[in-house]
Amino acid sequence: MAALDEIDLVPKGCLPAGQAGIPTRNIRLSQRAREMQASPIRKLAALAEARKKSGVHVYHLNIGQPDLPTPHDVFDAFRRFEQTTLAYAPSNGMPVAVSAWMNYFQHHGIAFDERELIVTAGGSEAIIFAMCAVCDSNDEVIVFEPFYTNYNGFATIADIQLRTVPLSISNGFHLPSEEEIESQITDRTRAILFCNPSNPTGTIYSREEIQRLVNVAKRHDLFLLSDEVYREFAYESKAISIAEFPEVREQSILLDSTSKRFNVCGARVGVLASHNQDVVQTALRFGMARLSVATLEQVAVAPLLNNPEPYTGPLVEEFHRRRDAVYEGLKSIPGVTFYKPEGAFYIVIGLPVKDSDHFARWMVEKFEYQRETVLLAPANGFYATPGRGLNEARLAFMLNVPDLQKSLAIIQRALDSYQKLTP
Ligand SMILES: Cc1ncc(COP(=O)(O)O)c(C=O)c1O
Repeated sequence: MAALDEIDLVPKGCLPAGQAGIPTRNIRLSQRAREMQASPIRKLAALAEARKKSGVHVYHLNIGQPDLPTPHDVFDAFRRFEQTTLAYAPSNGMPVAVSAWMNYFQHHGIAFDERELIVTAGGSEAIIFAMCAVCDSNDEVIVFEPFYTNYNGFATIADIQLRTVPLSISNGFHLPSEEEIESQITDRTRAILFCNPSNPTGTIYSREEIQRLVNVAKRHDLFLLSDEVYREFAYESKAISIAEFPEVREQSILLDSTSKRFNVCGARVGVLASHNQDVVQTALRFGMARLSVATLEQVAVAPLLNNPEPYTGPLVEEFHRRRDAVYEGLKSIPGVTFYKPEGAFYIVIGLPVKDSDHFARWMVEKFEYQRETVLLAPANGFYATPGRGLNEARLAFMLNVPDLQKSLAIIQRALDSYQKLTP
């Protein structure tokens, strides 16, 4: 089997059989195996590691893993755990975690009872369960492009197709008209999946924009899969939840996670919540098949969900400062297109280059300023439509303000040198 980093370097859909450990004769893996993408976010990581070995410091603006410490209370809960057997948890979640998710939602004015929640292994499993619950093989789910790249992988696992509705950097990646969304609906469309606040764009959809999705879903009997893992990271006004639209009560599935808001990505505790009992009972049966979510982690995050504010408050403040610093810093880079992201901790920017993938590789492999360089995520990995997003890159605000400012200054110098090399 090839090392993960080797696989990460192979472009989407092109794993050479021998290299990926796939036998070339007689026995073969599934179509799904061939389609499954390697993470484009990690694609350039190996180049960054090689560069670091040559003594150059690399600022990582490519990943979505917060750099800040996880709350002590989480580790204290691990230490305090006194049971003699580390047993399976119930498939729908430990009672302490289910009730903590209820309390968390209540804190945000959202009412779910314990029969309406399934604790999942991160938001990721919740999204896969939701896709599998509402789609048959080859059914379609509408997503807005650019989108969280793992939606591709989840769709491959669930054996469904994503149909994309394009968004544009020119209006900060806000949603298009109902007609434009409807133009992508076919007789195989089962759902609209959207992320609010958005990864990768940082956009927060207004109530009126979400109403458009609600209207379309009602008219075409579609499910609305609402990925709200960045709920608190909302810097201008609060992010609207799909749970605030009672007219699609039975059609909505809320997908959520503790990962980002409490900075506990490794705990793997998420949730699928819906007022539609058929959906929840289906998700529960999927949950029964995988038995349970990790016991200790559910216990450890429950106090955070029960009383979220002290944990999320400082984190959100820090990311707000970073968002402001990035927005201000981008103003001084000539030729870059950008907008003010309203939430999450990402922005997609337009670069004055033809191919941001080539630029990102060149910057991390060849460019340095005072023995430092930057790793960006080229945005083509966040698009499914070939040719879209070619000159765009996603920046994740995973560094403190001074380091973000230094990174932007390096990008500016790199663009300047790159443009001289490739006029
Ligand atoms: C938009 C979005 N949804 C879902 C997830 C899944 O996160 P997790 O499985 O850690 O909850 C992520 C993680 O980066 C994300 O960015």
